[in-house]
Amino acid sequence: MTGMTGRTVLVTGAGRGIGRAEALHLAEAGANVVVNDPGVEIDGRGGDESVAAAVVDEIRAFGGRAVADTGSVVDWDDARRMVERAVAEFGDLHAVVNNAATEVNKGLERLGEAEFDDVVAVKLKGTFAVSRWAAVHWRAQHEAGVRVDRAIVNTASGSGLLNPLPTQSNYAAANSAVAAMTIVHALELRRWGVRVNCVSPSMVRTRLTATVPGSGMTDPGVVAPLVTCLAGDGCLLTGQVLSVRGGSVAVNRGWTLGPRVESGSEPWTAAALADALAAVEMVDPFDALTAALGDALGLTSREDVEAVVNAQLG
Ligand SMILES: NC(=O)c1ccc[n+]([C@@H]2O[C@H](COP(=O)([O-])OP(=O)(O)OC[C@H]3O[C@@H](n4cnc5c(N)ncnc54)[C@H](O)[C@@H]3O)[C@@H](O)[C@H]2O)c1
Repeated sequence: MTGMTGRTVLVTGAGRGIGRAEALHLAEAGANVVVNDPGVEIDGRGGDESVAAAVVDEIRAFGGRAVADTGSVVDWDDARRMVERAVAEFGDLHAVVNNAATEVNKGLERLGEAEFDDVVAVKLKGTFAVSRWAAVHWRAQHEAGVRVDRAIVNTASGSGLLNPLPTQSNYAAANSAVAAMTIVHALELRRWGVRVNCVSPSMVRTRLTATVPGSGMTDPGVVAPLVTCLAGDGCLLTGQVLSVRGGSVAVNRGWTLGPRVESGSEPWTAAALADALAAVEMVDPFDALTAALGDALGLTSREDVEAVVNAQLG
């Protein structure tokens, strides 16, 4: 059983969707919550300070403790200030939930440079920046003799780990990078008593998925119990990437090696390698996508999935 009482948790992108549900769940479990969200549009433009404030009001309305932060996770100084705010308001920071994300979905030949950079920045650099400043604080605390459970919970996506989706060069790449960085940080931060894990939602109904068809969508609250579990003291997990789809929570084993061909004592020639690989059973990416998401999207055949993909790409 993990505990939340008296712990302070910073949740990024906590003004809406999955992050908002996580902030509410953590506060209900007894955590002090820093609700970070600049209230930007799906593509990262604009900003609305009332978005984070509204979640803080919801938490305070049931007697919980929360403070708003409207900084951007991409901004190095904003990221530092989020950590400082947690410490200034509540005395310490015990866990960071890196949840913020934006999306600009376009096929490769249409996607612009800034559209690539900005989406990758929020998801990947944002996760790095906030974790980095938290780690600075945690190392100093550890060296000062403070011994409490600390945790980072990152957020990846099924689009990145299991089914990288067309139109998401930026988003899918950043999400798989976050999963890799989770393992790096789990290895690096153990010495300061910090556990680092990652959740990977799929098919959650938020504004990010508002245009995705199908009946398989679930409530934004499905991810929150896992995040509260991973952020709580008493949880022993570290270095894990856990997929969440509805009530199903599954441990990811990462990229795994499948069938192989061996050259023997001589190096391969390109021609021999081509023949050898032609004999290996490969998984076609459209078949994989159909098997994974076809049912949820109401698409039964691989041809239907390919037609939908091509229509999206335009
Ligand atoms: N909805 C799904 O099905 C799904 C699936 C897989 C992964 N995810 C992941 O879950 C997380 C939450 O997604 P969601 O569906 O709730 O999206 P959402 O758009 O509802 O919420 C994301 C929040 O992040 C905030 N944000 C954007 N840029 C920010 C920045 N620079 N700094 C701080 N906050 C910023 C936005 O203002 C927004 O409120 C994301 O990391 C997303 O990649 C969602």
